[in-house]
Amino acid sequence: MQWKNAIRLSKLKPDKPRMVILGLKTLMIVHHEGKYHATEGLCRHMRWPLGIGGKVVDGCIRCPLHQTTHCLDDGSLVEWSPFPLFPPYGRAVGKLSKKKDLPLYETRVKDDYVQIRI
Ligand code: FES
Repeated sequence: MQWKNAIRLSKLKPDKPRMVILGLKTLMIVHHEGKYHATEGLCRHMRWPLGIGGKVVDGCIRCPLHQTTHCLDDGSLVEWSPFPLFPPYGRAVGKLSKKKDLPLYETRVKDDYVQIRI
């Protein structure tokens, strides 16, 4: 495991997730309430990139596709594919894959970059 520059600080706006590709990994990075969070970049449900259209809601990252939501502090699952409710295929689509937590990565700030330990 080593620290790698992921994104310049100037490219991050509060609560605006960004997609970052480091080697073979796709990550999502967001600045939320003074902390930099880095997670697996693809939604655990059907692999939508969370850095594209993901929203920070109550300290969680919500996928725009079916609104699966994970806590940013520990990656725990909050809600699995609840959308759309009517017609109720959101929950049916949710059953196509197993519920999972969102892997997190350690972050730090160095030399004008958010670095990720990977
Ligand atoms: S792909 Fe993210 S909630 Fe379905």
